[in-house]
Amino acid sequence: MAPLKFTFLTDIHYFSPLLGTEGKAYERENSKSQKLLKDSGMAIASAFNAISQDKSNDIVLINGDLTNNGEMESHQGIIEMLRALKMTGKRVFVTTATHDFQGDGKAWRFEGDEKIETRAAIREELFEMYREFGPDQAMSVHEDSMSYAVELEEGYVLLALNDDRNHKGQSGFSDDLFEWITNQINLAKENGQTVVAMTHHPLIAPSELYAAIGKNDMMGEHETRLRQLADMGIGFVFTGHSHIHNISYESYENGKVIFDISTASLAGYPAYYRVVTIDSEKNEMDIRTLKTEGFDEQFTDQFFGMIRRVINAAADDIDDFAQKAEAFSVRSRFTYRYGWMIKPFAKLIRKLRVGTVCRICKKEAGLSPEEFEQVKDMKVMDLVITLAMNLYKGDGEYTPDTPEYKAAMGFASVADAFLEKIHMPVGKFLKGADSLSDVIEPLLYKNGIPDADAVIPVIADADYIKTVISETERTKSKKGIGILAVLILIVLILLPFLPLIAVILGICALANYIKYYKKIKEFS
Ligand SMILES: [Fe+2]
Ligand SMILES: [Fe+2]
Repeated sequence: MAPLKFTFLTDIHYFSPLLGTEGKAYERENSKSQKLLKDSGMAIASAFNAISQDKSNDIVLINGDLTNNGEMESHQGIIEMLRALKMTGKRVFVTTATHDFQGDGKAWRFEGDEKIETRAAIREELFEMYREFGPDQAMSVHEDSMSYAVELEEGYVLLALNDDRNHKGQSGFSDDLFEWITNQINLAKENGQTVVAMTHHPLIAPSELYAAIGKNDMMGEHETRLRQLADMGIGFVFTGHSHIHNISYESYENGKVIFDISTASLAGYPAYYRVVTIDSEKNEMDIRTLKTEGFDEQFTDQFFGMIRRVINAAADDIDDFAQKAEAFSVRSRFTYRYGWMIKPFAKLIRKLRVGTVCRICKKEAGLSPEEFEQVKDMKVMDLVITLAMNLYKGDGEYTPDTPEYKAAMGFASVADAFLEKIHMPVGKFLKGADSLSDVIEPLLYKNGIPDADAVIPVIADADYIKTVISETERTKSKKGIGILAVLILIVLILLPFLPLIAVILGICALANYIKYYKKIKEFS
């Protein structure tokens, strides 16, 4: 049986330029997003162009969220682009997802200051709209979910699973769909075929942070469904939705192992897609990552530049801050009232250097004098933004021997010790996370299987998993009690001055109210 090769994309989120990509209303809408809507069309065109020139394979899989928010104009545009891709000799198989329809059939376009209602597709329309990209070539279709099974090459079956609803109020597989999936898997087994499954929502969280804050973005009943698929002998599933580039696995006590291969969005940083070769005879899957060239600067600036701009505005310019904070649903009235309290913190965050933070975690970080020199002037804000970018692109560059890793993990160790002492473990804020160290470490670098380029087994077992786990040593800080004692001491020292502090704060609040009286009234 020859190996199977295909190109995999997800979350391409096309936004038609006919809907307006400039002006205040558009900027307001797009400024809080990781996607850059106005460039989505060009990024897709660039990727499709590269794909059409790659003659090494003729299969393209696109795993849902084809449009921004289901706008009809966006659907029409992307369908034309998909047809053009097919004309270059590619076989194109797509699924739609929750961003491709609206229950009320309403989406938005933008004109100057105005956000104007426009027609969105409703779910029932999607099957007919996209049937030429998969269902028409399918051996079997599950109509209610719009899922389908198609033979990609001899010996390889694609299960394109649409998980936009499970009929229990979540995304996921309905019982009826799951019965169909079971039948398809059994049929493939009987025929000696390998199943290539793709489904939009993650079955395994692509990071500790996502597990904690993106819980509702996991596939409904993901733990049960993942286990069921693994038990049926499915070794891997391709997913999207999180816009995070990641390869994770789950292993069970019965020896079954299943990978969740999640791919980043094409419409925002890092604009990755994958080319995959599956060789069932060798039990080997080669996963490569390609980047859509030419959008790095805009896509990086779109989201990560925004974080920096908001902090700068908070530190320097209250009017600018009020405007930018609106994009994050913070009311201008609130910003004008309390911005003066946020200002010193924003200034501090902007100024804070790694060297300053390292003072409290010198021992835990274990930096040599040369290593300290290398990072001491680095701004904490820059490091945090790099870690946020690493969350999306995977494979952080800070291996355990780098000073950045040592400094960040040293700080996390002290913070964990303190939080433990005051009985406030990170799990209380970030459900599912055991410690701050667990959250930060994968953002610094990927331990085990790389996220972008990896060679993994088609069907893995417990013996394979033993070869990829390599635990890094962690220093456990004992400073928790010391920090607590210092804080208590500071409070005790300040206690007699409380009335004075209250008066000063009151005067500042009054002065601020007088200064921004007009603005506060205007936005009330
Ligand atoms: Fe998406
Ligand atoms: Fe999604």
